[in-house]
Amino acid sequence: MSPAESRTAESSPAGSTSGSPPGRAPAAAFVTFEGVDGAGKSTQLARLAEALREAGREVVVTREPGGSPGAEEIRRLLVEGEAHRWSPETEILLFTAARRDHVERVIQPALRRGAVVLCDRFADSTRAYQGAGDAARRALVDRLHETIIGIEPGLTLILDLDPADGLARASERAGAEDRFERKGAGFQQALRREFHRLAEANPGRCVLIDATGDPDTVAARILAVAEARGLL
Ligand code: TMP
Repeated sequence: MSPAESRTAESSPAGSTSGSPPGRAPAAAFVTFEGVDGAGKSTQLARLAEALREAGREVVVTREPGGSPGAEEIRRLLVEGEAHRWSPETEILLFTAARRDHVERVIQPALRRGAVVLCDRFADSTRAYQGAGDAARRALVDRLHETIIGIEPGLTLILDLDPADGLARASERAGAEDRFERKGAGFQQALRREFHRLAEANPGRCVLIDATGDPDTVAARILAVAEARGLL
């Protein structure tokens, strides 16, 4: 368990100008979706949002990198262009900068209002994409997260499927945002292993969802978890 996850819930002002992290974890209604590229996160996130709204909850749907105007600008620097355009360390700093803005301006205010926040990717993506296979980099990700972000989701749904199937789906709709998909099949296999490790290391927060099958079947698996966690 990371230090951030061992903290108890407390709050600090949204948009705080101090250097401290903008929030403390875990937040029960902060739900993140993770997985390899093309795992079906966006479709499933929209399905859960619909179910929660039908149940009368206020739902904020957001994504990373991005989710706030400033973070969306940083997103373009990260997901477009040549695969090795940034060093891994620069990339970690850019993802963390985008996340800080997103947490301050969108996530924390929504959680304080009592909304459910559904976020397409969060810090586990940085742990996996930027940290997999390199202990020093992974430690840097964790240190920055602890210092600058300081919030963990209450529930992380990791959509799990063979990256070969995911890449086929992702390449159908990638457009210009394919910087990470172009890192290839071996990279995606390493990502999947890293997401499995994250699930094992954080059993209270992370749930592996079998993402094979049609969208209705996968949505039913997710609804069962949401119900068990008291979200619905
Ligand atoms: P998306 O395709 O799910 O919108 O995500 C954009 C890409 O950014 C995806 O290939 C994963 C990558 N990514 C990271 O490498 N690190 C991160 O921290 C996040 C949030 C995304």
